[in-house]
Amino acid sequence: MMVTLTIDGKTIQVPEGTTVLEAAEQLGITIPTLCYHKDLSPYGGCRLCVVEVKGARTPLASCTLTVSEGMEVKTQSPGLEASRRMVLELLLSNYHDAGYAANDGRFNELEHWASAHGLDVKYLQAKAPRFEINSDPSPAIWVDLNKCILCTRCIRACAEVQGRFVWGLAERGFDSHIVAGSGEPLLEARCESCGACVAYCPTGALDNKPSVGKGKAEKVVTTTCTYCGVGCQFDLN
Ligand code: FES
Repeated sequence: MMVTLTIDGKTIQVPEGTTVLEAAEQLGITIPTLCYHKDLSPYGGCRLCVVEVKGARTPLASCTLTVSEGMEVKTQSPGLEASRRMVLELLLSNYHDAGYAANDGRFNELEHWASAHGLDVKYLQAKAPRFEINSDPSPAIWVDLNKCILCTRCIRACAEVQGRFVWGLAERGFDSHIVAGSGEPLLEARCESCGACVAYCPTGALDNKPSVGKGKAEKVVTTTCTYCGVGCQFDLN
């Protein structure tokens, strides 16, 4: 069954079950996202994608909100801008990119959205790391929990793309962090070094260890291993 709604004054018809975010994309309207990825199940954790819906008392996350007949959605307003800036500032207050100065304008997704909302990442990010940088001995996967924003894309990618269930969440509140297995090194937690978690991480908290600190890859080769088929990407520098 088709559903008709308006987004920013534009009318669209989409199949029942479509999310507001997906409907907006079809209209060419970009809504900022961080925890959302089209390949993964929706999570609704970061609240960056909030929109205003006529009749709703508070902004709603568009990545988990399914369309309904006659819905009227606004994706831009001073209130939404303020809400998104607050989300980004809170994420940055708990985020530390030790290599930010050397990034040379190459932003990850968090840094991109923060800059797009007029926020100074260098000034707003945490002043010191809370976790050991490169904290896992894996030869393939670089782990820097100081850059993790708990979007859980790595956890969902590991489970939903690769079916491995290596990554999970540990602790609560401020102490919450991703963890391999029950806290052991990645390779001891059944990690196959497939790179799915790296590919879906929006901040580089998980990265390709052989290329960290080497600048932009000059050449990227996509390989498909016979045993897993994930399609890992490793640069050959
Ligand atoms: Fe929708 Fe994170 S992208 S809540």
